[in-house]
Amino acid sequence: MSATRHTRVLTGITTSGTPHLGNYVGAVRPAIAASRAPATESFYFLADLHSLIKTQDPAMTQRSTLEIAATWLAAGLEPDRVWFYRQSDIPEITELTWFLTCVAGKGILNRAHAYKAAVDRNRADGEDDDAGVSAGLFMYPVLMAADILIFNADRVPVGRDQIQHIEMARDFGQRFNHVYGRDWFTLPEAVIDEQVATLPGLDGRKMSKSYGNTIPLFVPRDELRRLVFSMVTDSRAPGEPKDTAGSAVFQLYQAFASKEETAAFAQAYADGIGWGEAKQRLFDRVDAEIAPLRERYNALMARPGDIEDILRDGARRLRERYATPLLAELRHAVGLRDLSQGVHGDAAGPSADAVHALPVFKQYREDAGFSFKLVDGDVLLLQGVHFDAPREAGQLIARLRRGDATLSAGADGAVLLDGQVIGTLAGTSGLDVLQDALARLREAEAAA
Ligand code: TRP
Repeated sequence: MSATRHTRVLTGITTSGTPHLGNYVGAVRPAIAASRAPATESFYFLADLHSLIKTQDPAMTQRSTLEIAATWLAAGLEPDRVWFYRQSDIPEITELTWFLTCVAGKGILNRAHAYKAAVDRNRADGEDDDAGVSAGLFMYPVLMAADILIFNADRVPVGRDQIQHIEMARDFGQRFNHVYGRDWFTLPEAVIDEQVATLPGLDGRKMSKSYGNTIPLFVPRDELRRLVFSMVTDSRAPGEPKDTAGSAVFQLYQAFASKEETAAFAQAYADGIGWGEAKQRLFDRVDAEIAPLRERYNALMARPGDIEDILRDGARRLRERYATPLLAELRHAVGLRDLSQGVHGDAAGPSADAVHALPVFKQYREDAGFSFKLVDGDVLLLQGVHFDAPREAGQLIARLRRGDATLSAGADGAVLLDGQVIGTLAGTSGLDVLQDALARLREAEAAA
């Protein structure tokens, strides 16, 4: 490792289910290509603790962990060049989860999409809000934050549905840094790849386990052929020109073919290729890419002990290098200390105050002008625009405190007061959070 710190890129793979072609094209293949980028230190791990939230079938958990590990290795992940490990092999992750749990705002977890969706379903069904919701589901974002923060990841490639979790990881990391008085954690950025293809499944809808329309990645060759031939098409006869737009056969082909091959296939559509022949060409193209991987996959699956060794070795080296020393420091920072060493007050931080204080407005000066922000404990709720004079910022704050004007949300987190942009919302907080904070301030003032 060179003296300058490489960018750390980290991704977790939930170990539920059997990988299909859509996972391969949308996640595995691009991630492995990215792992070869220079000046990056990549972390890929099997999120098996997360999988327990969804699946409580032990045999399935084990099988899925094995299959997913074998898939990534067969697809070309190099465990000597990247960190490849299993979450549950790093007990420091679960320990950090608790430290973060104790600074994480419960209100923030209440707003997590997955949890809110469960509550909404319950309400629609006339059930208790939390019926059937495990504390594990509720705490999911904290475990995920620990995964990310423990290795100070800079960038986290994820699907859109995970952006909120990364924002929460930033929030919890920031809170911890503030409470314990030092930049313990790097605040991660989500990376969304707009390019990655979503593949159509057998029925033409997005390939997804929940639709039951997948082509498993490593089925035997004959089964792959059978599945490709079962894909839906329209009823045009051989000789009739065919539409590439909306053709699942075409889209799947494109995900595996070069530009030239794709252009030639489009020409064949225009020339009226029969569906049987089109499917044969699709099968040949997919199989040409998958066959060598399938061979490696089968060899790996026949030697599960080798996979176990690779994963354990990754976790052992990673703990030694980062996780164990970091947790020793963090234990000390939070006050879980050697009692024989005498009591010292360093790095204890203003924890109680930071957690319980009222929101406060802060005014300050920058090159761009005078500005203000509203912070709740250590969390930034509103970042104000800049003004030429400090009085203008002061007057705006007075109006916000009085609450006699209407707040609304604009594009990209903009906050408007009576239609004028006054600042932007920060991180995971929505307008409702800002309004709550202002209401609390007013209440406290009224009570004083
Ligand atoms: N929640 C992620 C998903 O469902 C998986 C995951 C767990 C993850 N921990 C992570 C992804 C840390 C990125 C970083 O896709």
